[in-house]
Amino acid sequence: MINDRKPIEDLDPSWVPLVKLARQARKKAYAPYSKFLVGCALQDATGKSHTGCNVENASYSAAICAERSALVKMVSRGCREARRVVVVTSSEDPVFPCGVCLQVLQELAPHSQVIAVNRRGTLFRQTDLHALIPSGF
Ligand code: THU
Repeated sequence: MINDRKPIEDLDPSWVPLVKLARQARKKAYAPYSKFLVGCALQDATGKSHTGCNVENASYSAAICAERSALVKMVSRGCREARRVVVVTSSEDPVFPCGVCLQVLQELAPHSQVIAVNRRGTLFRQTDLHALIPSGF
């Protein structure tokens, strides 16, 4: 079930390094307007990791989310497909990527597993991209 929150101890250990990278990336977020810091770490099809954070702007709509920030970094490094996605937000509950990011994930991570982790790193939710955007374009 998408909405099940689980204690982080239940997470498969193979995800732990990627969660750590996403938590570190979150600390780099530039979010002076919302104060909602987000970090993302991706594992591409060759096993390499790529991180991103949200970067806001005085012209609010110019902000980029952590997920897309990580995805554009991945592509600019020559990788075209992410298989694992970790998002760490500033919320008490783990939250999944926004609709715009889901659309970009549909393009660049169509067969991925997605994990959301809360701010304190104590809870996670896990699903696959298809469950989040079932009829994606
Ligand atoms: N944000 C993300 O980085 N990822 C999401 O999935 C949801 C929202 C950012 C955008 C903005 O900088 C802040 O969080 C508040 O919406």
